[in-house]
Amino acid sequence: MKALRNTWYVAALAKELDAQAFLSRKLLDVSVLMYRKADGTPVAMQDRCPHRFAPLSLGKRVGDEVQCLYHGLRFDSNGACTHSPHGDGQVPARACVRSFSLVERYGFLWIWMGDANRADAKLIPHYPLLDNPLPTAVAHGYMHMPANYELIVDNVMDLSHVDHVHGPLLNTAGHLSPQKPPVTEDSNSVLVRWEWQQHPPMGLFAPLLPDPAGEAEQFVQVQWTAPSNMFLTVGAVQGSRDYERGLISWDFHLVTPESETSTHYFFGSLRNFMVDNGAFNDAKLENMIHTFKTEDEPLIAAQQAEMGTTDFWSLKPALLSCDTASVKARRRLQKLIDEENASPQNAARAAMRATA
Ligand code: FES
Ligand SMILES: [Fe+2]
Repeated sequence: MKALRNTWYVAALAKELDAQAFLSRKLLDVSVLMYRKADGTPVAMQDRCPHRFAPLSLGKRVGDEVQCLYHGLRFDSNGACTHSPHGDGQVPARACVRSFSLVERYGFLWIWMGDANRADAKLIPHYPLLDNPLPTAVAHGYMHMPANYELIVDNVMDLSHVDHVHGPLLNTAGHLSPQKPPVTEDSNSVLVRWEWQQHPPMGLFAPLLPDPAGEAEQFVQVQWTAPSNMFLTVGAVQGSRDYERGLISWDFHLVTPESETSTHYFFGSLRNFMVDNGAFNDAKLENMIHTFKTEDEPLIAAQQAEMGTTDFWSLKPALLSCDTASVKARRRLQKLIDEENASPQNAARAAMRATA
Protein backbone atom coordinates (compact mmCIF):
# COMPACT_ATOMS: atom_id res chain seq x y z
CA MET A 1 0.00 0.00 0.00
CA LYS A 2 1.03 3.62 -0.50
CA ALA A 3 2.43 4.92 2.80
CA LEU A 4 5.53 6.45 4.28
CA ARG A 5 7.46 3.79 6.18
CA ASN A 6 10.33 5.60 7.85
CA THR A 7 8.20 7.50 10.31
CA TRP A 8 6.36 6.97 13.61
CA TYR A 9 2.71 5.95 13.58
CA VAL A 10 0.39 5.46 16.53
CA ALA A 11 -0.14 1.71 16.87
CA ALA A 12 -2.40 1.72 19.94
CA LEU A 13 -3.59 3.72 22.90
CA ALA A 14 -1.30 3.08 25.86
CA LYS A 15 -4.37 1.95 27.86
CA GLU A 16 -5.21 -0.69 25.23
CA LEU A 17 -2.15 -2.71 26.21
CA ASP A 18 -2.68 -4.24 29.60
CA ALA A 19 -0.18 -6.17 31.70
CA GLN A 20 -0.68 -9.60 30.15
CA ALA A 21 -2.87 -9.84 27.07
CA PHE A 22 -1.70 -9.76 23.45
CA LEU A 23 -2.98 -7.08 21.12
CA SER A 24 -2.91 -7.93 17.42
CA ARG A 25 -3.51 -5.14 14.92
CA LYS A 26 -2.83 -4.79 11.20
CA LEU A 27 -0.72 -1.71 10.45
CA LEU A 28 0.35 -0.77 6.91
CA ASP A 29 -0.85 -4.21 5.79
CA VAL A 30 1.40 -5.98 8.34
CA SER A 31 -0.07 -7.96 11.25
CA VAL A 32 1.60 -6.71 14.40
CA LEU A 33 1.60 -8.35 17.83
CA MET A 34 1.98 -6.04 20.82
CA TYR A 35 2.29 -6.79 24.51
CA ARG A 36 3.95 -5.52 27.66
CA LYS A 37 6.89 -7.21 29.31
CA ALA A 38 6.68 -7.84 33.05
CA ASP A 39 8.37 -4.48 33.71
CA GLY A 40 5.69 -2.70 31.63
CA THR A 41 7.88 -2.08 28.56
CA PRO A 42 5.71 -2.29 25.41
CA VAL A 43 7.05 -4.46 22.59
CA ALA A 44 5.96 -5.19 19.03
CA MET A 45 6.79 -7.87 16.50
CA GLN A 46 5.21 -9.29 13.38
CA ASP A 47 2.22 -11.42 14.31
CA ARG A 48 3.40 -14.30 12.15
CA CYS A 49 5.41 -17.37 13.12
CA PRO A 50 8.30 -17.96 10.71
CA HIS A 51 7.60 -21.72 10.62
CA ARG A 52 4.12 -22.11 9.10
CA PHE A 53 2.98 -18.51 9.51
CA ALA A 54 0.43 -19.02 12.27
CA PRO A 55 -0.39 -15.77 14.08
CA LEU A 56 1.71 -15.67 17.22
CA SER A 57 -1.16 -13.94 19.01
CA LEU A 58 -2.92 -17.33 19.07
CA GLY A 59 -0.10 -18.61 21.26
CA LYS A 60 0.73 -17.87 24.86
CA ARG A 61 3.02 -15.84 27.07
CA VAL A 62 5.93 -17.61 28.73
CA GLY A 63 7.32 -14.89 30.97
CA ASP A 64 8.38 -12.11 28.58
CA GLU A 65 8.43 -14.54 25.65
CA VAL A 66 5.81 -15.73 23.16
CA GLN A 67 5.18 -19.38 22.37
CA CYS A 68 3.56 -20.30 19.06
CA LEU A 69 0.39 -22.34 19.46
CA TYR A 70 1.03 -24.56 16.44
CA HIS A 71 4.39 -26.33 17.06
CA GLY A 72 5.72 -24.60 20.15
CA LEU A 73 8.58 -22.41 18.88
CA ARG A 74 9.29 -19.71 21.44
CA PHE A 75 10.49 -16.16 20.73
CA ASP A 76 11.87 -13.40 22.92
CA SER A 77 10.62 -9.81 22.67
CA ASN A 78 13.23 -9.04 19.98
CA GLY A 79 11.84 -11.86 17.82
CA ALA A 80 14.78 -14.22 18.37
CA CYS A 81 13.84 -17.90 18.73
CA THR A 82 14.91 -19.09 22.17
CA HIS A 83 13.45 -22.58 22.22
CA SER A 84 12.41 -25.34 19.83
CA PRO A 85 10.86 -28.55 21.19
CA HIS A 86 11.73 -30.38 17.93
CA GLY A 87 14.54 -32.86 17.22
CA ASP A 88 17.73 -31.91 19.01
CA GLY A 89 16.34 -28.46 19.78
CA GLN A 90 18.46 -26.72 17.16
CA VAL A 91 17.01 -23.38 16.03
CA PRO A 92 17.10 -22.82 12.24
CA ALA A 93 18.54 -19.50 11.07
CA ARG A 94 15.22 -18.48 9.53
CA ALA A 95 13.34 -18.96 12.79
CA CYS A 96 13.24 -15.30 13.72
CA VAL A 97 10.44 -12.77 13.78
CA ARG A 98 10.68 -9.17 12.66
CA SER A 99 10.41 -6.84 15.64
CA PHE A 100 9.53 -3.15 15.66
CA SER A 101 10.45 -0.21 17.89
CA LEU A 102 7.46 0.70 20.06
CA VAL A 103 7.60 3.81 22.26
CA GLU A 104 5.03 4.95 24.82
CA ARG A 105 4.44 8.71 24.74
CA TYR A 106 1.49 11.09 25.29
CA GLY A 107 -0.85 8.17 26.11
CA PHE A 108 -0.14 6.50 22.75
CA LEU A 109 2.18 3.71 21.59
CA TRP A 110 4.24 4.84 18.59
CA ILE A 111 5.61 2.27 16.16
CA TRP A 112 8.35 2.52 13.51
CA MET A 113 7.59 0.23 10.55
CA GLY A 114 10.54 1.30 8.36
CA ASP A 115 14.29 0.65 8.55
CA ALA A 116 14.95 -0.34 12.16
CA ASN A 117 18.26 1.51 12.31
CA ARG A 118 16.52 4.80 11.50
CA ALA A 119 14.01 4.58 14.38
CA ASP A 120 14.80 7.66 16.46
CA ALA A 121 12.35 8.55 19.26
CA LYS A 122 13.30 12.22 18.79
CA LEU A 123 11.28 12.10 15.53
CA ILE A 124 8.00 11.44 17.38
CA PRO A 125 5.85 14.59 17.01
CA HIS A 126 6.22 17.09 19.85
CA TYR A 127 2.96 17.58 21.73
CA PRO A 128 3.97 19.20 25.05
CA LEU A 129 0.30 19.71 26.00
CA LEU A 130 0.05 15.92 26.33
CA ASP A 131 3.17 15.60 28.48
CA ASN A 132 1.55 15.64 31.92
CA PRO A 133 -2.10 16.62 31.55
CA LEU A 134 -4.57 16.61 34.40
CA PRO A 135 -6.22 13.15 34.15
CA THR A 136 -9.71 14.67 34.32
CA ALA A 137 -8.94 17.07 31.43
CA VAL A 138 -7.58 14.60 28.89
CA ALA A 139 -9.25 11.78 26.98
CA HIS A 140 -7.84 9.29 24.51
CA GLY A 141 -10.01 7.43 22.03
CA TYR A 142 -9.90 5.03 19.11
CA MET A 143 -12.11 4.30 16.11
CA HIS A 144 -11.74 1.96 13.19
CA MET A 145 -12.57 3.67 9.90
CA PRO A 146 -13.40 1.78 6.68
CA ALA A 147 -11.56 4.29 4.47
CA ASN A 148 -8.09 5.19 3.25
CA TYR A 149 -6.20 7.39 5.71
CA GLU A 150 -5.75 10.22 3.19
CA LEU A 151 -9.52 10.64 2.94
CA ILE A 152 -9.50 11.22 6.70
CA VAL A 153 -6.68 13.76 6.39
CA ASP A 154 -8.74 15.53 3.67
CA ASN A 155 -11.72 15.58 6.03
CA VAL A 156 -9.84 17.21 8.91
CA MET A 157 -7.74 19.62 6.81
CA ASP A 158 -10.87 20.93 5.09
CA LEU A 159 -13.26 21.83 7.89
CA SER A 160 -15.66 23.61 5.52
CA HIS A 161 -17.45 20.24 5.60
CA VAL A 162 -18.57 21.08 9.15
CA ASP A 163 -20.99 23.61 7.63
CA HIS A 164 -22.69 20.83 5.69
CA VAL A 165 -22.19 17.55 7.53
CA HIS A 166 -22.36 18.22 11.23
CA GLY A 167 -25.29 18.66 13.58
CA PRO A 168 -25.86 20.99 16.54
CA LEU A 169 -22.75 20.03 18.57
CA LEU A 170 -20.24 21.10 15.89
CA ASN A 171 -22.47 23.38 13.85
CA THR A 172 -20.59 26.25 12.17
CA ALA A 173 -23.74 27.61 10.50
CA GLY A 174 -22.25 28.11 7.03
CA HIS A 175 -19.46 30.44 8.18
CA LEU A 176 -16.49 28.36 6.97
CA SER A 177 -17.33 27.60 3.34
CA PRO A 178 -17.19 31.21 2.03
CA GLN A 179 -13.74 31.74 3.57
CA LYS A 180 -10.38 31.25 1.91
CA PRO A 181 -8.55 30.43 5.14
CA PRO A 182 -4.85 31.33 5.35
CA VAL A 183 -2.60 28.31 4.86
CA THR A 184 1.07 28.25 5.84
CA GLU A 185 3.51 25.42 5.39
CA ASP A 186 7.06 24.31 5.92
CA SER A 187 8.92 21.20 4.83
CA ASN A 188 7.00 18.89 7.16
CA SER A 189 3.80 20.66 8.12
CA VAL A 190 0.75 22.51 6.82
CA LEU A 191 -1.31 24.86 8.98
CA VAL A 192 -4.78 26.24 8.23
CA ARG A 193 -6.92 28.59 10.33
CA TRP A 194 -10.49 29.87 10.21
CA GLU A 195 -11.91 32.73 12.31
CA TRP A 196 -15.53 33.87 12.35
CA GLN A 197 -18.39 35.26 14.44
CA GLN A 198 -21.29 32.98 15.20
CA HIS A 199 -24.71 33.65 16.74
CA PRO A 200 -25.59 31.52 18.68
CA PRO A 201 -22.21 29.87 19.24
CA MET A 202 -21.28 26.33 18.26
CA GLY A 203 -23.14 23.78 20.42
CA LEU A 204 -19.86 22.47 21.86
CA PHE A 205 -19.23 25.82 23.57
CA ALA A 206 -22.60 27.61 23.82
CA PRO A 207 -23.78 26.24 27.22
CA LEU A 208 -20.44 27.15 28.81
CA LEU A 209 -20.20 30.73 27.51
CA PRO A 210 -21.54 33.73 29.48
CA ASP A 211 -24.33 34.30 26.92
CA PRO A 212 -25.24 30.94 25.36
CA ALA A 213 -27.61 32.59 22.87
CA GLY A 214 -25.37 35.55 22.03
CA GLU A 215 -22.61 36.13 19.52
CA ALA A 216 -19.18 34.55 19.93
CA GLU A 217 -15.81 34.97 18.26
CA GLN A 218 -14.72 31.52 17.16
CA PHE A 219 -11.66 30.00 15.58
CA VAL A 220 -10.27 26.64 14.58
CA GLN A 221 -6.73 25.88 13.54
CA VAL A 222 -5.39 22.59 12.19
CA GLN A 223 -1.75 21.68 11.91
CA TRP A 224 -0.90 18.64 9.81
CA THR A 225 2.48 17.01 10.17
CA ALA A 226 3.66 14.09 8.09
CA PRO A 227 2.56 11.48 7.62
CA SER A 228 -0.98 11.85 9.03
CA ASN A 229 -0.98 13.65 12.38
CA MET A 230 -3.38 16.54 12.87
CA PHE A 231 -3.42 18.90 15.84
CA LEU A 232 -6.58 21.02 16.17
CA THR A 233 -7.09 24.07 18.37
CA VAL A 234 -10.73 25.16 18.59
CA GLY A 235 -11.96 28.13 20.60
CA ALA A 236 -14.76 30.53 21.38
CA VAL A 237 -14.86 33.79 23.36
CA GLN A 238 -17.46 36.49 23.96
CA GLY A 239 -17.02 40.23 24.48
CA SER A 240 -13.48 40.31 23.11
CA ARG A 241 -11.29 38.78 20.44
CA ASP A 242 -8.78 37.60 23.01
CA TYR A 243 -9.10 33.87 22.43
CA GLU A 244 -6.77 33.12 25.33
CA ARG A 245 -9.54 34.32 27.67
CA GLY A 246 -12.13 32.03 26.13
CA LEU A 247 -12.86 28.34 25.90
CA ILE A 248 -10.28 26.25 24.08
CA SER A 249 -10.26 22.60 23.09
CA TRP A 250 -7.10 20.94 21.78
CA ASP A 251 -7.66 17.80 19.75
CA PHE A 252 -5.09 15.41 18.34
CA HIS A 253 -6.27 13.34 15.39
CA LEU A 254 -3.59 10.76 14.62
CA VAL A 255 -4.39 8.28 11.87
CA THR A 256 -2.53 5.14 10.90
CA PRO A 257 -3.18 3.15 7.74
CA GLU A 258 -4.41 -0.37 8.35
CA SER A 259 -4.72 -1.20 4.64
CA GLU A 260 -5.35 0.69 1.41
CA THR A 261 -9.01 1.00 2.38
CA SER A 262 -9.06 1.10 6.18
CA THR A 263 -7.56 3.20 8.94
CA HIS A 264 -6.96 3.26 12.67
CA TYR A 265 -8.15 6.64 13.96
CA PHE A 266 -6.64 7.62 17.30
CA PHE A 267 -7.36 10.82 19.11
CA GLY A 268 -6.52 12.73 22.23
CA SER A 269 -8.57 15.64 23.54
CA LEU A 270 -7.72 18.36 26.06
CA ARG A 271 -9.42 21.58 27.12
CA ASN A 272 -8.98 24.66 29.31
CA PHE A 273 -12.47 24.53 30.88
CA MET A 274 -14.08 22.23 33.48
CA VAL A 275 -10.66 20.62 33.77
CA ASP A 276 -11.35 18.90 37.08
CA ASN A 277 -14.67 17.38 35.96
CA GLY A 278 -14.07 13.72 35.09
CA ALA A 279 -17.72 13.10 34.17
CA PHE A 280 -17.61 15.99 31.68
CA ASN A 281 -14.40 14.49 30.30
CA ASP A 282 -16.08 11.12 29.70
CA ALA A 283 -19.14 12.75 28.14
CA LYS A 284 -16.97 14.88 25.81
CA LEU A 285 -15.13 11.78 24.58
CA GLU A 286 -18.41 9.92 24.08
CA ASN A 287 -19.91 12.86 22.16
CA MET A 288 -16.82 13.12 19.96
CA ILE A 289 -16.92 9.44 19.04
CA HIS A 290 -20.66 9.58 18.46
CA THR A 291 -20.27 12.60 16.16
CA PHE A 292 -17.54 10.94 14.08
CA LYS A 293 -19.36 7.65 13.93
CA THR A 294 -22.72 9.07 12.92
CA GLU A 295 -21.74 12.15 10.87
CA ASP A 296 -18.24 11.74 9.35
CA GLU A 297 -17.82 7.98 9.06
CA PRO A 298 -20.90 7.13 6.93
CA LEU A 299 -19.88 9.78 4.44
CA ILE A 300 -16.18 8.87 4.28
CA ALA A 301 -16.96 5.14 4.08
CA ALA A 302 -19.36 5.76 1.18
CA GLN A 303 -16.75 7.96 -0.53
CA GLN A 304 -14.23 5.10 -0.18
CA ALA A 305 -16.69 2.55 -1.53
CA GLU A 306 -17.38 4.77 -4.54
CA MET A 307 -13.68 5.42 -5.27
CA GLY A 308 -12.45 1.90 -4.61
CA THR A 309 -8.66 1.72 -4.83
CA THR A 310 -8.40 3.96 -7.88
CA ASP A 311 -5.67 6.56 -7.42
CA PHE A 312 -7.20 9.82 -6.14
CA TRP A 313 -5.51 12.13 -8.69
CA SER A 314 -6.28 9.84 -11.63
CA LEU A 315 -9.97 10.53 -10.93
CA LYS A 316 -9.28 14.19 -11.72
CA PRO A 317 -11.12 15.70 -8.72
CA ALA A 318 -12.65 19.16 -9.06
CA LEU A 319 -10.78 21.55 -6.79
CA LEU A 320 -12.45 24.21 -4.61
CA SER A 321 -11.06 27.06 -2.52
CA CYS A 322 -11.53 24.93 0.60
CA ASP A 323 -9.06 22.31 -0.71
CA THR A 324 -5.82 24.27 -0.37
CA ALA A 325 -4.63 22.78 2.93
CA SER A 326 -5.66 19.20 2.20
CA VAL A 327 -4.04 19.28 -1.25
CA LYS A 328 -0.83 20.70 0.21
CA ALA A 329 -0.78 17.88 2.79
CA ARG A 330 -1.37 15.27 0.08
CA ARG A 331 1.45 16.71 -2.06
CA ARG A 332 3.92 16.96 0.81
CA LEU A 333 3.23 13.37 1.82
CA GLN A 334 3.57 12.16 -1.76
CA LYS A 335 6.93 13.94 -2.02
CA LEU A 336 8.16 12.22 1.15
CA ILE A 337 6.96 8.83 -0.12
CA ASP A 338 8.62 9.40 -3.50
CA GLU A 339 11.88 10.37 -1.79
CA GLU A 340 11.71 7.30 0.43
CA ASN A 341 11.07 5.02 -2.55
CA ALA A 342 13.99 6.58 -4.43
CA SER A 343 16.41 6.19 -1.49
CA PRO A 344 19.59 4.16 -2.17
CA GLN A 345 18.51 1.49 0.36
CA ASN A 346 15.20 0.95 -1.43
CA ALA A 347 16.87 0.95 -4.84
CA ALA A 348 19.28 -1.74 -3.58
CA ARG A 349 16.38 -3.80 -2.22
CA ALA A 350 14.48 -3.54 -5.50
CA ALA A 351 17.60 -4.67 -7.40
CA MET A 352 17.98 -7.67 -5.07
CA ARG A 353 14.33 -8.62 -5.62
CA ALA A 354 14.81 -8.36 -9.39
CA THR A 355 17.80 -10.72 -9.38
CA ALA A 356 16.37 -13.18 -6.83
S1 FES B 1 3.65 -22.39 12.92
FE1 FES B 1 4.61 -21.67 14.71
S2 FES B 1 5.80 -23.33 15.41
FE2 FES B 1 4.88 -24.07 13.57
FE1 LIG C 1 -16.21 16.18 10.50
